Amino acid sequence: MAEVANIFMFLSMFLAVVVVPLAQGSDDLTRKIRPGKEKVTQIHCYYHNVDHGDNPTTVTVAMAPNSMKSPTGFGIVRVLDNPLTTGPDPKSKLVGRAHGIYAVDGAFDFNILMLVDLAFTDGIYNGSTVNVVGRNHVAAGVRDTPIVGGTGVFAFARGIVTMTNYYLNFTSGLDAIIEYNLTIIHY
Ligand SMILES: *[C@@H]1O[C@H](CO)[C@@H](O)[C@H](O)[C@H]1NC(C)=O
Ligand SMILES: *[C@@H]1O[C@H](CO)[C@@H](O)[C@H](O)[C@H]1NC(C)=O
Ligand SMILES: *[C@@H]1O[C@H](CO)[C@@H](O)[C@H](O)[C@H]1NC(C)=O
Repeated sequence: MAEVANIFMFLSMFLAVVVVPLAQGSDDLTRKIRPGKEKVTQIHCYYHNVDHGDNPTTVTVAMAPNSMKSPTGFGIVRVLDNPLTTGPDPKSKLVGRAHGIYAVDGAFDFNILMLVDLAFTDGIYNGSTVNVVGRNHVAAGVRDTPIVGGTGVFAFARGIVTMTNYYLNFTSGLDAIIEYNLTIIHY
């Protein structure tokens, strides 16, 4: 017991020497450790999954042998670089892009796992990102997917994206326009 206590004392001396000067010595580090008061930001935009024509923004990179026989496309993995715009019209103002991948993980109901970064390019959000990671239950119509982090203005973010299907067309793959209502808690 005494030995264990000695080890802790030794370690805490070591930590006091190493950690305290680091935290005090760097304004940047201190700012990041103690970011200040939390804010809530809401962003409204539209996500365009373009799966037709010569310049699709979503491509299939892998699938299971029987994915195409599944009613949901179970097992399909896709990579995306989708525009985010102010309105449902693809020609409306571009405010960012969604980069990432999703996998169809619903065998009976259309459900995907998203690993997507929303990279904003407009105004004060230019260069900032949020990370959308989790279940996207497309079949539900209106659903929430978690925001688990971010960078820039959105450093240390958490929140949700409420998604609403605006347009879905499965004729030639998956063309979709989804309304995104982001609620972001950040500093
Ligand atoms: C966003 O930032 C990049 C890099 O700093 C810059 O090149 C670009 O013009 C900016 N875009 C807008 C719309 O402000
Ligand atoms: C669905 O997509 C197909 C192929 O791109 C297109 O020909 C058709 O017009 C679309 N349907 C609607 C309702 O937009
Ligand atoms: C998303 O935001 C828009 C604009 O603020 C609003 O009209 C719409 O009702 C919201 N949708 C959902 C599902 O919250």
